[in-house]
Amino acid sequence: MEIRERVRQLLAKMTLEEKIGQTNMLGGSIYSELDHEKLDRLLCAGQIGSVMCMDPVINNEIQRRNLQKHRLHIPILFCGDIIHGIGTIFPIPLAESCSWDPDLAERTAAAAAKEGAAFGCRWTFAPMTDIGKDVRWGRVMEGAGEDPLLGGDFAAARVRGFQGTPDKQGYLAPDRLAACVKHFAGYGLVEGGKEYAGVTVSERELQNIYFKPYERGIRAGALTVMSAFHDLNGIPCTVYNAQLDDTLRRAWNFDGVLVTDYNAIAETIEHGYCRDGKEAALSAARATVDIDMVSGLYVKYLKKLVEEGALPLEKLDRAVSRILTLKFRVGIMDHPFTDESRIKTEVGCEDTKALARECALRSAVLLENDGILPLRKGMRIALVGPLADDKRNMLGNWSYYGRVGETETLREGLTAENANVLFLSGPDLSAISGCDCVIAAVGHKNEMAGEACSLTHLDLPEEQVSLVKHAASFGKPVILVVIAGRPLVLRSVEKYCSAILYAWHLGTCAGSAIAELLIGKVSPSGRLSISFPRSTGQCPVYYYHTATGRPPQKENIFTSRYLDEEIGPRWPFGYGLSYSKIRYNSVRVSQNAEQVKISLELENRGNFDTYETVQVYCRKCFSKPVRPVRELVGYRSVFLKSGEIKKEELSIPIGNFFYLNEDNHGEYEIFAGKDSTCSCCAKITL
Ligand code: NOJ
Repeated sequence: MEIRERVRQLLAKMTLEEKIGQTNMLGGSIYSELDHEKLDRLLCAGQIGSVMCMDPVINNEIQRRNLQKHRLHIPILFCGDIIHGIGTIFPIPLAESCSWDPDLAERTAAAAAKEGAAFGCRWTFAPMTDIGKDVRWGRVMEGAGEDPLLGGDFAAARVRGFQGTPDKQGYLAPDRLAACVKHFAGYGLVEGGKEYAGVTVSERELQNIYFKPYERGIRAGALTVMSAFHDLNGIPCTVYNAQLDDTLRRAWNFDGVLVTDYNAIAETIEHGYCRDGKEAALSAARATVDIDMVSGLYVKYLKKLVEEGALPLEKLDRAVSRILTLKFRVGIMDHPFTDESRIKTEVGCEDTKALARECALRSAVLLENDGILPLRKGMRIALVGPLADDKRNMLGNWSYYGRVGETETLREGLTAENANVLFLSGPDLSAISGCDCVIAAVGHKNEMAGEACSLTHLDLPEEQVSLVKHAASFGKPVILVVIAGRPLVLRSVEKYCSAILYAWHLGTCAGSAIAELLIGKVSPSGRLSISFPRSTGQCPVYYYHTATGRPPQKENIFTSRYLDEEIGPRWPFGYGLSYSKIRYNSVRVSQNAEQVKISLELENRGNFDTYETVQVYCRKCFSKPVRPVRELVGYRSVFLKSGEIKKEELSIPIGNFFYLNEDNHGEYEIFAGKDSTCSCCAKITL
């Protein structure tokens, strides 16, 4: 029988209370917090639709009780945040996007789904598809950086990876999960980068920039979407009817489940938007929000609202149908339990770790190198810094279930490569004198980036700055390895360093990956998916700003710049070094009615095999209203062996150059090269 029919038949048997119960999501602590009698009472009344919990034993226990108590035996859907892996931790999403390889992200999402399913989870709250360009906002770590095209490609890839290809009837495979595009919409624009603050943005920017990755994720088939916490132009997203119903449901035909963020229905009262819980529940339900994440207000008020006629029963029925459809599609209606042995056989497997290492190798970005890297064989290396031998803080935020014991530190990675390493963990660094170089592993712990991690100071902690200065005072070259969940301001240490490798939080296999990059077993190839500020006061700094009537000039203060800061980001979007030298030959641009074609030849003139990421940007020369000075329209990551020459042709759909509902005809400059500062190679008319 088709899913639609199964849902219809089930819905027809449900009481109003049972329907409302499906809209109710509880936190994972119910098992430990609620006494079992209370839990059973809720289960008997059919009041629990989903539970945030990723423990197969607890889930099975709750499910067993639920199936005994629930009149119609409707299984509970277990869900949680699998952001970059669960047992095996992959690089944080921001790092992964520096690979500029969405296929890689699809593979890591698939591997994370497989482990997640073994943990008893059937629905992950990922991918986060908010564009993040203000690095004061800690959640930049969860997304794919500042660009709408790159962000959209990663959003779609991650959705495909989590969900796989459903079968003909729409069922997901047992080793895949429902994905959730979040947080709709524009969360990355919170004022001043301050968590949970308000967002003011024009409809034009929303449509042409910020909506793009959400829409791509939804078009890739995401089964669910999460609304955001913040107010968007004055309306809390949780109850923003025009965005949720009009844009999401009608314009994008999203027919899946819409869930709130944590307690967000109740928070619309704190926003000063809804007067009380009843109005909040009604507003969210009217805006087509299907599941209430933990506020409890749906369970409390929806019955009354339906009985009073304020909320049409058909509207509730549609929400419940969507929830039941999700439950069928993820397989729990037919297979409500998790095989508890899977956690032993399907988590932390060697092939998953190999993928985590591959991804880590592609994610790190070499920012500076005066030639000290790669390290020569036999070099005596002093290793210092708080993050040199710290397992937990390789993983990054959202890694509660990460297997810390199996995580590799940099010290372990270097040792495994037989590097001649002397680890100095104490304050006495005098042994550096007898070494050829120093590796300083500095940065931030996991909990310094992620939710509720907005910062006003992006510099390295003072004690780390002192450590780097002290290490440099022995006159040996210092290689800085930065382990962090967001771009940091490195000004105070840069001048002491011969090389800087930005390693982010790379996950379970961080140690071996960083070691392999440092010794040149693999050439670094990551390219920044987010611009690095020179100082915190420069935030937000990003490449697709509009032009000003007074472009910044070094010698002229009456131009668009800061009096006390240099112009532009410290390291621009798209930037990253490798150990090889890639030359771009004969770049040509042609066009037809559907595409702009960029053909070029790449030549690896260095001694290392490496990935090169070709980037293509456009600028619409004149536009009303104006458009940004650069916009990424295409890219490709190409692997070249040392000495190899490859011809590449990028066919870029003309739609990538266009804004919605405006006159897109006119002249465009085309830029092709290694990063967002590359030079103009052609002018075309579209
Ligand atoms: C709040 C976060 O904003 C969201 O991203 C997450 O999915 C939920 N909490 C559930 O943990």
